[in-house]
Amino acid sequence: MSANSKLPDTFHVTKRIDFAKAIDVRNLKDKSIIVTGGANGLGAGCVTSFAEAGAYVTILDINNELGSAHAEQLNSKGHHVKFVKTDTSSWPSQMDGFKAAIDFSPRKTIDIVLTSAGLTTKSVVGGWLDKVSSLSKDPEAPPTATIDVNLTGLYYSAHLALYYFKKTAKPGDQGSKQIMFVSSLAGYLALNQVADYVASKYGARGLWRTLRYSPEILGEDMPRFRTNLVCPTYIKTDMTQSIQPILESMGIALGEVADVVAGVMRCACDESIEGRALAIAPGKESAGDRNFDLCDDWEGVEGGRELTEHIADGTIKGLELGDRPPQLKGVNFEAAPK
Ligand SMILES: NC(=O)c1ccc[n+]([C@@H]2O[C@H](COP(=O)([O-])OP(=O)(O)OC[C@H]3O[C@@H](n4cnc5c(N)ncnc54)[C@H](O)[C@@H]3O)[C@@H](O)[C@H]2O)c1
Repeated sequence: MSANSKLPDTFHVTKRIDFAKAIDVRNLKDKSIIVTGGANGLGAGCVTSFAEAGAYVTILDINNELGSAHAEQLNSKGHHVKFVKTDTSSWPSQMDGFKAAIDFSPRKTIDIVLTSAGLTTKSVVGGWLDKVSSLSKDPEAPPTATIDVNLTGLYYSAHLALYYFKKTAKPGDQGSKQIMFVSSLAGYLALNQVADYVASKYGARGLWRTLRYSPEILGEDMPRFRTNLVCPTYIKTDMTQSIQPILESMGIALGEVADVVAGVMRCACDESIEGRALAIAPGKESAGDRNFDLCDDWEGVEGGRELTEHIADGTIKGLELGDRPPQLKGVNFEAAPK
């Protein structure tokens, strides 16, 4: 902590991520990893890399077809992947998923949880309010599915992870226990039209910010608890399929799933990354080569300075469209049907 800082030491987090440091994926061998939303998109890409590194990976996803197929395909190559059909917005469903992951793992524990399950829908501005046909009746409740999955689901993941970390860890265990929350750069700059999505992504950040100050939460002699935040810009997945052509026509490059995987693997393997927020930017020469630490801490002005500098130098494009240009007005942000 700098000399002029007025915050007490409890608000200290580790230094910004060192992207030059080599990571050793062998650290993940036999680790037990849960990936919510691991049937598709970013989550599916991370499942593949974790499995290839020798981890036991449990996919908790609501999409039975994609989840089973992804697990089968990786198992056919000799990897260890289990799919459990799970609705992460339901406590009993997600709890069953966690228990199944413990059963599946060689050491009957969970080491890492990556929360990638997510939805995006239109809400309030440009969505729900447009559908209100009459102002003379009492209003219907707006849909909350996005908040249910993206925030309540993550809140459940955090509680379940901490409970089962504590229950299954043994004093002196090597390595830390980690939750990687998937938020978004929309957790730093609001995007118009998707109020529920933005609220959920700011919420994910709030969860992470609260938990990161408790590295000793699992108790004395128990493994250290780490939590990091993964904040992608627009990435090419089914979630963004409907807006990809429009963004590209405006000169906005989308990132690849590989850019996210590079960031997630760094946080998973490097035990010195603790309490950091990682921005995922579209790679230039290689996957993840323009990812950056958001410096979401006291000294980094909660990420604000770092993000605006990267928008100014063109690494991140499209987030300044808070007030969306005409091309994006009325676009349906729901994930494209499979
Ligand atoms: N694609 C992007 O541009 C982008 C940018 C920033 C953040 N993100 C975030 O990354 C995460 C993954 O998004 P993606 O782009 O890979 O989308 P995706 O649609 O490809 O994958 C999302 C996965 O979540 C699963 N899911 C949805 N509801 C669920 C539920 N109730 N229970 C369990 N699983 C459920 C889906 O079945 C799917 O497999 C989301 O949290 C998203 O908000 C995506």
